[in-house]
Amino acid sequence: MFGAIDHIGVAVEDLDEGIALYRDRLGMREQHRETVEAFGVEAVLLEIGGSHIELLTPISPDSAVARYLDRNGPGMHHVAYRTDDIDAALERLRESSVRLLDEEPRAGIRDSRVAFVHPKSTGGVLTEIVQPSEDTHG
Ligand code: CO
Repeated sequence: MFGAIDHIGVAVEDLDEGIALYRDRLGMREQHRETVEAFGVEAVLLEIGGSHIELLTPISPDSAVARYLDRNGPGMHHVAYRTDDIDAALERLRESSVRLLDEEPRAGIRDSRVAFVHPKSTGGVLTEIVQPSEDTHG
């Protein structure tokens, strides 16, 4: 159902500090930066092998990432699995009685289609399913 870990989402209070850590000290290439209004975040993707670290910082106080930071402070926020058919993947998860936060895919970063799975169904790990845009390379 899933092809790879697409990215690990990391919540940060300050995007530039996050970049300083992952790019300057850990040596990952900064690949993409985007404000994703629908999720109330500004996000940066850094390259690690065929996968990414996705730094997330809230741009609105009522975003899920803002609530996460209030509760937990900065840290690992979610894991994202890559699929080439998110509709089929969601159908299969539903059939397996996995609870979804998004019944339908939403628009994610870089024109991807994404959906979140309820962490109660995944052992406390917030899980994202992502189908990258056809014209995303690397
Ligand atoms: Co993500």
